Amino acid sequence: MTKKTEVDATPAPLKPATQLVTGGRDTKAYHGFVNPPVHHASTVLYPSAEDYLARRSRYLYGRRGTPTSEALENALRALEGPGCTGVALLPSGLAAISTALLAVLKAGDHLLVTDSAYQPTRKFCDSVLSRYGIATTYYDPLIGGGIAALMQPNTRAVFVEAPGSLSFEVQDVPAVAAAAHGAGAVVLMDNTWATSLYFKPLEKGVDLSIQAGTKYIGGHSDVMLGTVSANQATWQRLSEIVYLSGLCVGPDDIYLGLRGLRTMGVRLAQHYQSGLKVASWLAQRPEIARVLHPALESCPGHAIWRRDFAGASGLFSIVFKPVAQSAVYAFIDALNLFGIGPSWGGFESLAIPFDCTNIRTATKWMPGGPTVRLHIGLEDVDDLIGDLERGFAALAAAR
Ligand SMILES: Cc1ncc(COP(=O)(O)O)c(C=O)c1O
Repeated sequence: MTKKTEVDATPAPLKPATQLVTGGRDTKAYHGFVNPPVHHASTVLYPSAEDYLARRSRYLYGRRGTPTSEALENALRALEGPGCTGVALLPSGLAAISTALLAVLKAGDHLLVTDSAYQPTRKFCDSVLSRYGIATTYYDPLIGGGIAALMQPNTRAVFVEAPGSLSFEVQDVPAVAAAAHGAGAVVLMDNTWATSLYFKPLEKGVDLSIQAGTKYIGGHSDVMLGTVSANQATWQRLSEIVYLSGLCVGPDDIYLGLRGLRTMGVRLAQHYQSGLKVASWLAQRPEIARVLHPALESCPGHAIWRRDFAGASGLFSIVFKPVAQSAVYAFIDALNLFGIGPSWGGFESLAIPFDCTNIRTATKWMPGGPTVRLHIGLEDVDDLIGDLERGFAALAAAR
């Protein structure tokens, strides 16, 4: 038997659940406390005039970073994987999207955006970016490597979102990224649905990975937060735009984000399990034509989800068999445990009606019946199913 002569000094990479719990912790600096202090800060004092002029200080100014913001940034960076050079915190998910786009685009550039993108992302492109001379073309989310045919000489960025947060098409991110890079464009991704726990954008060819931390990172419907994780190719441009646009997040909100992150693993596992149970139950209901849940075969792009994703969160949609819209409203209104409201990713279940018909431009939205989006929260799943049964009884009565 050959003897091992060298000891491998590289520690095995920590598993995601451990990264969530340990990332960004510096208990020595916190005097032994597990959590960082919440630094309410603007002015930083420098030891001397010379130090001030040379900006010789660990921290420069409240807006430029504090031990509290560093703790969350470091935790997120560990979770994104070794391809992550830096993380920027923004005051909302939409601010993270608009800032990331501004970081990589300039007048005269062309941008490709998935037709399934979060609607305010589209509005930002169509109203703000267009005013600054940046043109946007929307593409079929299922286009995959075929996106190469849409690249123009001035295409500088491709924006992906997988899955779409209403219609749930799962994009082939590696294929889109390969085509984009082949044409010299950078790739941005809204990864709010899967989080960097269930999908690692930077390992799949994405340059700027965006999350609305408002959703699963916060996890308790009490904070607005956005995050952008950048690779080496984009970090300089991202950190410059964040600095020069003066964007920063208040320390209490950063703290809530960090606190949420510590339990995101167990919360997401429960959202996944309960969401799939409810989705599978709904798929058997006679009133439902289709369930748009990436882990079910009925969802466009399901095979890609199986190939690239490590799990699913609690957000998906259902398509009713043709029925009066008013009956679907009666279904939603009869639910006790599902609230009616925007956002998702918190502990509570939600149900909203939606219609993408007037949003899409590159594809036609023809689901064949009324559509409702559900967020499956952390309530007991059998109680949720009981609540949905109440909804179906109301639907039948309203037909
Ligand atoms: C997929 C997706 N991305 C981004 C956002 C924007 O996040 P925020 O509300 O924090 O601006 C949302 C909000 O609903 C969303 O659903």
